[in-house]
Amino acid sequence: MRILVVCLGNICRSPIAEGLFKKNIAEQNLSWTIDSAGTGSWHIGQLPDRRSIDICKQNGLDITNQRARQIRQSDFYNFDLILAMDHSNEKNLHRLKPADADVEIKKVMDYIDPQGTLEVPDPYYDGRFQEVYDLLEKAISKCLNDILVNQ
Ligand code: 4NP
Repeated sequence: MRILVVCLGNICRSPIAEGLFKKNIAEQNLSWTIDSAGTGSWHIGQLPDRRSIDICKQNGLDITNQRARQIRQSDFYNFDLILAMDHSNEKNLHRLKPADADVEIKKVMDYIDPQGTLEVPDPYYDGRFQEVYDLLEKAISKCLNDILVNQ
């Protein structure tokens, strides 16, 4: 299984999601590919936001090996599942997806909200990093369970 998590800048939400996915799959001895990217280009090459690093560190996760990158065409062929943080990311991913790529695109929150209305809020300006961490922890654990049950 190859999963790409995507937000806008790839410095706040998706680095936390990448860290949580990697922790969960390591605990289950799965050799899946996990990566993250942003739809925007502003932060390419940068470390995750200090506040994402801190909230992960408080929970025993080190995400300082990550560097921001922008989504590219090959991602749509090289991953099985692309998970967006919010509706805007999801819309942009559908717009960027090449017609012949059969990767599945959905929101990470769809796993705990089948109605499809919930999003992971952008914490860049309002600092809601704890809320983001808690939502991602819940959604990612459910996502992994669902995938493993359906395999
Ligand atoms: P992210 O948060 O999409 O969770 O990485 C943001 C990071 C940077 C910006 C917006 C959102 N920005 O406008 O630079």
